Order: sequence, then structure tokens, then C-alpha cells
Amino acid sequence: MRREPGHAPLHVIDIIRKKRDGGTLDPREIAFLVSGAATGSIPGASGSLPLEQLSAWLMAAFLRGLSLDETRSLTLAMRDSGEKFDPSHLGKVAVDKHSTGGVGDKTSFLVAPIAAACGLAVPMISGRALGHTGGTLDKLEPIPGCRTALTLSEFETVLAHCGASIVSQTPTLVPADRVLYALRDRTGTVESPGLICASILSKKLAAGLDALVLDVKTGSGAFLRKQEDAEYLATLMVATAEAAGTRTVALLTDMGQPLGRAAGNWIELVEAVELLRNQRPPESEDLRELSFILAGWMVHLGGKAATPRTGRQLAEAALEDGSALAVFFKMIEAQGGDSGVFDDPAAFHKPGATQALTAWKTGYVAETDTTKIGWAVQRTGAGREKAGEPVDPHAGILFHARRGTRVEQGQPIATLYATTSAMLQEPTELLKQAIAISTTPPHAVPLVTRIFTRENAEAHLRNAVR
Ligand code: URA
Repeated sequence: MRREPGHAPLHVIDIIRKKRDGGTLDPREIAFLVSGAATGSIPGASGSLPLEQLSAWLMAAFLRGLSLDETRSLTLAMRDSGEKFDPSHLGKVAVDKHSTGGVGDKTSFLVAPIAAACGLAVPMISGRALGHTGGTLDKLEPIPGCRTALTLSEFETVLAHCGASIVSQTPTLVPADRVLYALRDRTGTVESPGLICASILSKKLAAGLDALVLDVKTGSGAFLRKQEDAEYLATLMVATAEAAGTRTVALLTDMGQPLGRAAGNWIELVEAVELLRNQRPPESEDLRELSFILAGWMVHLGGKAATPRTGRQLAEAALEDGSALAVFFKMIEAQGGDSGVFDDPAAFHKPGATQALTAWKTGYVAETDTTKIGWAVQRTGAGREKAGEPVDPHAGILFHARRGTRVEQGQPIATLYATTSAMLQEPTELLKQAIAISTTPPHAVPLVTRIFTRENAEAHLRNAVR
């Protein structure tokens, strides 16, 4: 309970019941709950705030939805739940990119060093595996010694030295998202536009960004699969971030198949470093292309290029001349990691068990249920069942055939890596169910379907309001 002069006292149970019954919470009620989530205690009182109550509120918010005003209040309260980073004295424009969650999405490891190599600061606060999607931090941590829970002063030192740093929420940095993110993962409350918006933007706004590029996924592997739902989320995030003073664009991108050829932890990092080394495996072309598009926008919004197209050219040059790779290794070392592990990445990869999935008939790899593939990846051991559990750095799935590839019966289409051979069974079954092989090639799907900026987002949002 909290008693403020001139206000009726607040009680957690009243806030849960109000949302459960379809009411609209005011900013004070939302701030009360968020402060409770961040500290684990009831604001202004001596008791602790049980996770059951936070979970009940999350489910009520998930089922009833959050209005625009509620989403804005939640975002700002979560942003303000801990310390904030001020990048202004780095002497560079601070820019970042965040995705709404995907399978095999490792663009952060490309765009962060590319943008830094182009002269921008990239203070990236990231998350762990969520639902069926992978987490940037879980992918970075297999590197021996690499730390992601930095203090603000360590974050600043790495940024000053390297131009980019990838860190986690901590008990002092966006603590409310740290708690709510893990709880949403365990309570089936991930796929909510308002909760996704507040989770992503609280981290991005706490990093003090000047500009932000959002990669909003659509298709079978996205949290919001339908195009109109993804458009709603994109415009909600652009409008919310712009109102908070951060120049923002959102690109709607295809998550109808995993991005690139690896989905897991270490194997994703290896794929990203291959591209930073200018290698071009054909199965990684979509990843390379999307990374250049996103980085082009970062470079443009950061003021280093007049258009996203010229931004892209600068991004390509930073990759091709090796400067982005140099930034990436420097950042790893500055966060305590041993970048020497990339001298021979195959030698470091020691999965407990390996199995190939072969084509059960001849034809073309067609539709895939990418959410199911994401769950298959998580269940190899690459994800966790409970918050705080370690993940297996070596687990995951490597794809040898992508959408549209023609395969002969018996040809390997994927290799699965798991902690134990018993753990291979469920993911192999899920993967088989998730992939269709058809007699005709599938239609090509564009990588980017729409772009929202402050110019078109508000109007779209007003028409789309639920
Ligand atoms: N990424 C986040 O940080 N939060 C979400 O809710 C989804 C993706």
C-alpha cells in the first residue's frame, strides 16, 4: 500500500483487479507497480511484492491489452526504474538497433560494430532468450571471460574505448525490465504489443539514445505474426520513442524463416564473425543484406550519411575494410572476453550430441513454421526452462537448406547440436513438423515490407488504435 497526501492509497490487488476487469490504469498506478517490480517490495510499505501478483497483472495486461497512454506510462516508468546512461560526453551521436525477437537473428553482432566503425556510439542494452526467440546476451556469453553485466562506469569506459558495448539490464540498470522480462518468459505473456513496446523502449531510452532503428519481425517466427499486428507494434514504438525524444524508425522484416544459417548461441556468433571477416556463405546472404539495411539506417539517423542508401554504402565499406571486425574484437576484449577463441571457432564447438536431419523426400524447402523451429532450438539446450538457468553454449541448429532450396531425398537439411542425445529427440521431431518440402518452389518473400518513420507512424497508429 502507498499513501500520498491528496491521493487515495494504492493497493496491488486493486490494480490487478482493475486491469483484469478491462479498466485503464493511470500513470500513478503503473508507476507504483513498476517500482514494486524493480525493488521487489511494495512501494511505501514494508512488505515484499510477490511474483504471483506481478504475474497476475502481466496476464491481465496481456489479455485486456494496454491503451496508448498506458503503454507510454509503462515505458517511461520502466525507463526510470533505475540508473540511466548519459552518452552525451562520449562526443558522438548515440544510435542503436533492437529487434522484436527472432530465430537466428544475430544482426546486433554486425550492426553494432559497423555503426561504431562509422563513427557512432552504440550503447546496446540487450536481453536473453525470450519465448521461442534467442537472446543476444546468451549468444555473447559463450566467449570465455566475456561479461555483459557491466556497471554504468564500465559501460562508459568500453564505449569510449571501442564505440560499442553490449550489456544486460542489471539490478541498477532498467531493473523493472529485468524482472518483468524473465517473468513474461515464464508466464506466457510475451506476445503483447504494449508489453513488448515497454520492454524494448525502456532499455533503449535508459541508454540515452539520440536515434534508434527498430527491426519489427513479421511472419511465422515473429511474436506478432500478422502483418497488421506487426504494423501496429511498429507504429506504437515509433510514436512512443519519438514522444520521449529519440529519433526512431521501424522496419518490418521477414521472420518467415530463421535469419541466416545458424540458430543457437555459439554457432550464431561464429556465423556473424564469418560475415565480419567478409566471408559470404550463400545461406547467410539474408543476414548480410538485412544487417546492411539496418546499419545503413543507423548511419543515416546518426548523421553520418544523407540517406539510408549512402549509409548502407558506408556500412559496407566498414565491413569490407575490416574496421567493423576490429571494433567487435576490441569490444569483446574490453568486456573481459578472449577474442582468440575465434582463431579456430570449430575447435571451440563441443556439443554433447549431434544429429543430422535429412530430407524425407525430393523437392523444395517451402513453408516453415519458424516459431516451432525456435522452440526446437530452445529445447536443444540453447534456451532455458527456468529463469537464471545456464544455457548450453554449444546447442542449436545449423541449416544447410533455406526456403526455396531444392533438396534430394536423403540430403542433410539441418544439423542439430544438443547437450545430450536424449535431448535431440524432441527438437528433431519439432523441426520435421516445422519444415514442409513441396514439389514447386515457394514464392519469394521480400526481406523488408514496410518502413515507418515519425512522418507516417502517428497517422497509421491513430487509424489502427484497438
Ligand atoms: N525484445 C525485448 O527486449 N523485449 C521484448 O519484449 C521482445 C523483444
